[in-house]
Amino acid sequence: MTETILVTGASGKLGGAVIRHLLDSQGVAPSRIVAGSRDPNKLADLAALGVAVRNVDFDNPEGLETAFAGVGTVLIISTDVLDGADTRLRQHRTAVAAAKKAGAARIAYTSIANADTSKVSFAPDHSGTEAAIKASGLAYLIFRNSWYQENLFMSLPQALKTGQWYTSSSQGGTAFVARDDIAAAIAGALANPPAGGVTYTLTGSEALTKDEIAGLAGEILGKPIQVVHLGDEQLAGGMKAAGVPEAIVPMLVSFDTATRAGDLATVTADVTALSGRQPLPVRDFLAASKAALLA
Ligand SMILES: NC(=O)c1ccc[n+]([C@@H]2O[C@H](COP(=O)([O-])OP(=O)(O)OC[C@H]3O[C@@H](n4cnc5c(N)ncnc54)[C@H](OP(=O)(O)O)[C@@H]3O)[C@@H](O)[C@H]2O)c1
Repeated sequence: MTETILVTGASGKLGGAVIRHLLDSQGVAPSRIVAGSRDPNKLADLAALGVAVRNVDFDNPEGLETAFAGVGTVLIISTDVLDGADTRLRQHRTAVAAAKKAGAARIAYTSIANADTSKVSFAPDHSGTEAAIKASGLAYLIFRNSWYQENLFMSLPQALKTGQWYTSSSQGGTAFVARDDIAAAIAGALANPPAGGVTYTLTGSEALTKDEIAGLAGEILGKPIQVVHLGDEQLAGGMKAAGVPEAIVPMLVSFDTATRAGDLATVTADVTALSGRQPLPVRDFLAASKAALLA
């Protein structure tokens, strides 16, 4: 493989980690990698390594065509725009169209586990993007990512402080996976892409319920947590009472609804197959994050 790989969102955490794994784990030459960002000034470290740096903004369709010129594979890192107004889907469709117009051979994309059926409120952004990629007729690599272990920082520190963790996920499990394991797997697939179109689901090696994670946290972090099981409406009411902005409450509750339905419990061996490494167990993530979680 000699074609060029462009990674969008290269200043973000996942995009940056994919590029590091392309260089370090996969031994891809810097001259074959293009790092794209809305702010290329943030990519000086990569430029110093010989990685080409381009301006990539999905809100600028004309600029995208120039940015994608001469590139073999375009990895579209899904954006962080969650305004509930289809902005993200529009951005991703723009990127897909520009990749095709620029003559790319393959599109890769970071999606969500069970994108077409998931009850996560923004899953349609992902299933819609997947559909646009398939309709382009280009070869593709779709990475349906489970929840990052790092997402636990959104609720676990507070639960550790108060001793209570509120959820409507019931006994649904989540196959939490380290963001870096996802990056390593994506880099593996980009470096050695199969022909045609392939969809992977990148997960940890086990799906754990909130009760199981609370048990592990008690053991490893030394602080007991009681999981308080609620219905979706009670959970939403509690979030509003706690001052969570009303606009994002339905999205946050949908995470628990989806978990209860098993949408995030899928476990595959794709991370290991693509990266050659075992995914980090949640137990080890908690141990490695102990100081930060208890801060
Ligand atoms: N599976 C999960 O648990 C999980 C959790 C959080 C997020 N995600 C999704 O995975 C993505 C990557 O995660 P992350 O941890 O790397 O998040 P992050 O560090 O917050 O990165 C956000 C990314 O969005 C890109 N972006 C925003 N607006 C853009 C635009 N107009 N055009 C092109 N790119 C744009 C940014 O690129 P530049 O700033 O470099 O332009 C950046 O790479 C997120 O954006 C989100 O879609 C998944």
